[in-house]
Amino acid sequence: MTALTLSTAGAATLRADALVVGVAKGPKGPVVAPGAEAVDKAFDGKLASVLDALGASGADGEVTKLPAPAGLKVPVVLAVGLGGVPAEDESYDEDALRRAAGAAARALNGAKKAAFALPLEDASAVTAVAEGALLGAYSFTAYQGGDKKDKNDAPKGPLAEVALLGAKPRDKEHKAAAERAKIVATEVNVARDLINTPPNDLTPEAFAAVAQATGKELGLKVQVLDEKALLKGGYGGLMGVGKGSENPPRLVKVSYTHPKAQKSLAFVGKGITYDSGGISLKPAGHNETMKCDMSGAAAVFSAVVAVAKLGLEVNVTGWLALAENMPSGSATRPGDVLRMYSGKTVEVLNTDAEGRLVLADALTKASEENPDAIVDVATLTGAMVLALGNRTFGIMANDDAFRTAIHEIAEEVGEASWPMPLPADLRKGMDSPTADIANMGERMGGGLVAGLFLQEFVGEGITWAHLDIAGPAFHEGAPYGYTPKGGTGSAVRTLVRLAERTATGDLG
Ligand code: BES
Ligand code: MN
Ligand code: ZN
Repeated sequence: MTALTLSTAGAATLRADALVVGVAKGPKGPVVAPGAEAVDKAFDGKLASVLDALGASGADGEVTKLPAPAGLKVPVVLAVGLGGVPAEDESYDEDALRRAAGAAARALNGAKKAAFALPLEDASAVTAVAEGALLGAYSFTAYQGGDKKDKNDAPKGPLAEVALLGAKPRDKEHKAAAERAKIVATEVNVARDLINTPPNDLTPEAFAAVAQATGKELGLKVQVLDEKALLKGGYGGLMGVGKGSENPPRLVKVSYTHPKAQKSLAFVGKGITYDSGGISLKPAGHNETMKCDMSGAAAVFSAVVAVAKLGLEVNVTGWLALAENMPSGSATRPGDVLRMYSGKTVEVLNTDAEGRLVLADALTKASEENPDAIVDVATLTGAMVLALGNRTFGIMANDDAFRTAIHEIAEEVGEASWPMPLPADLRKGMDSPTADIANMGERMGGGLVAGLFLQEFVGEGITWAHLDIAGPAFHEGAPYGYTPKGGTGSAVRTLVRLAERTATGDLG
């Protein structure tokens, strides 16, 4: 991954391949942002007018490359747009900084070293710029450059080194902010790698092996239930979904504990390594990106690892409900009834509503340990994408205050989310003549129906929230800000911040 350093060097003296400066969108044209004074000086104070002449406005995400004037020790200056100029008594919005740093890092793909001279007013700005740069520098090239005869075919690596200018390496807060950003960005990128890995390679077994290897490295306890143990244990949801595949299901438990912890959290992730729909097969056009259906499990895994690396004073258990949803002679049929781990029976009306089945077992299992709260993360429904679009995840919960807290935390870390209800009247749509409940209900409000289904498997009295990340988990369009094409690592930052807040008892 990209290396990150805090540098005391001045913008005019540091040697690098590029120098990144911020430019805001002022009422009368572009305005050079604080942090870039020395660079502006090297342009004889004319950087803003040069940018204006080049047609740059300072709009969010805009990238302008300029040849550096004499006096700077870099060949290129890269001006990145920050959007509007903040009011007199306000500083630059953290996510605007994160996005700008991301856009700049992305534009410097293949470069060795870039110095970032963006406005760093306080430690949270350091976190934002560092995270943005490290997230924007991400690229997934593991499967490219296969033709060894053609050297030009080799993929460009990400920007190798980011030096933050204006951050204070001896300031405790700045140092901690940079360390935190490194850990969080690394783990978001790990989640992205897992999501982007093709489903022929990332099977439930392979995902479990990654968890075991990482757990060993970090001293985390990792327990894996394989298909034999799942069958014996009565995990009808996981087994029912996994039955049609040559790649059997797994339930992985990753535990992090801190000796001084007062609170415990359980994170539960949907880990469908490929969702074909099963016998209720998805049509072409709806299955090409379904390797992303384990994004919830990836987010949960990465978040637990980040919490461990941060050494937070809270116990966090991650549950990865891993299965591949495939059609075959051994697959679950629409009409089959499954006996879940909780004992409840479920009539499977649509084998494409598989996420709720694997999550149900994991939620019951997680509830047995009576954690202070459970949060599940899942690419659960197309309905949530229709409701909230491609960049916003939905939050449902059995506790209003908890739902609000998660919404605020997500906002704080720069993840778009919106609170959604669990209307009780939608429950009757899942009534089944043969079983306790069906895995499908009314089509209208499908995301909320799925949430209501999950709620039935949460232990009595346990605070629970459900994040439906089907929209933001996988980005199919052109990259923007710090968001690449493909897996985004959605929800990792929210889960980590929730753990931090839980550790400090500051949950609002
Ligand atoms: N994995 C899908 C949901 C999904 C859709 C994720 C688009 C990411 C992008 C889920 O398993 C699914 O197929 N849900 C069905 C449920 C329906 C059959 C009740 C859906 O949303 O159509
Ligand atoms: Mn499905
Ligand atoms: Zn699915």
